[in-house]
Amino acid sequence: MTPFRISFCCTNTDSEPWLAGLRAALPQAQVSVWQPGAVLADAAVVWMPPQQFFDEQRQLKAIFNIGAGVDALLKLRLPPHAVVVRLEDAGMAVQMAEYVCQAVIRHFRELDTYAEEIRRGTWTFHKPRQRSDFPVGVMGLGVLGARVAQALAHFEFPVNGWSRTAKALEGVRPFVGAAQFHDFLASSRVLVNLLPLTPQTVNILDHDALSRLQPGGYVINVARGAHLVDEDLLALLDSGQLAGALLDVFRQEPLPPEHAFWHHPKVVMTPHTSARTLRETSIAQIVGKIAAMQVGAQVGGMVDLQGGY
Ligand code: NAP
Ligand code: GLV
Repeated sequence: MTPFRISFCCTNTDSEPWLAGLRAALPQAQVSVWQPGAVLADAAVVWMPPQQFFDEQRQLKAIFNIGAGVDALLKLRLPPHAVVVRLEDAGMAVQMAEYVCQAVIRHFRELDTYAEEIRRGTWTFHKPRQRSDFPVGVMGLGVLGARVAQALAHFEFPVNGWSRTAKALEGVRPFVGAAQFHDFLASSRVLVNLLPLTPQTVNILDHDALSRLQPGGYVINVARGAHLVDEDLLALLDSGQLAGALLDVFRQEPLPPEHAFWHHPKVVMTPHTSARTLRETSIAQIVGKIAAMQVGAQVGGMVDLQGGY
């Protein structure tokens, strides 16, 4: 009997621990790092593979993406009969919740201002701000967005949630689809983006959308750089309409040295690190999905190739 073959093709990833983990969990499978001309595999574990990988690996039945977002993958020509499966949470939801909560709290409690004042040797107090003046809007209520929205609600922020289809989450005021997008923005002062990048959501954070936030708006982009029109954000920050932004993702990564974000006083950045792929949890999830597929059971995280997420 021919073994079940898995080809591993992940850019910017140390392949050895992944191979060891996959081989330990799937002793019957043959797991190897892809090289041009390699034997045809049944399944692939990928992160930003080159087009050549899919041009050669035409017999793949399943492609496992070791991230939540599949936008880069779906730009490629994929083998005709392969399903694409993404990570669902796999330890990312709690990371995203802690990252976004710290960002909202840091802004709301003026912690950067206090830090700066302390650095200057100033011991002073600001008038406490009202939580009710800082409604947070979460765009995308999927695996990550739902967790983030509920974590924010736990801190008693008013939370609005926007999604394509209706969602009922305790403590989260729901807004649905394009028809309620403007109401959602007008009801929010802090905006958190956790949408997938699709043809419907590219450039969604543009001048029109961002200028609909309540005065003193604050933008937290943790989804994809191409959701945000950089020049529009900069214009609204410079005019004083927006108070600031925390950006974890960028159109080009690493961010080019000449980009205005680097030295903008109202922009705080992190290098695409808000929710990292955790190897062991991810391997366990992929192995579980393979096992479910092999017995014809339902598999979570199946990507809708038409919908783009
Ligand atoms: P998900 O479970 O697929 O959730 C996506 C959410 O977006 C769903 O609620 C979906 O609505 C909503 N949505 C999609 N298209 C929409 C549209 N046109 N209008 C309104 N709502 C729309 O994805 P996830 O696992 O939460 O991940 C979200 C994204 O986070 C990923 O795609 C990735 O880009 C990003 N991410 C970033 C990092 C990082 O480190 N910065 C890490 C992981 C992921 P429905 O529920 O109605 O379908
Ligand atoms: C990271 O950005 C991911 O999509 O998992």
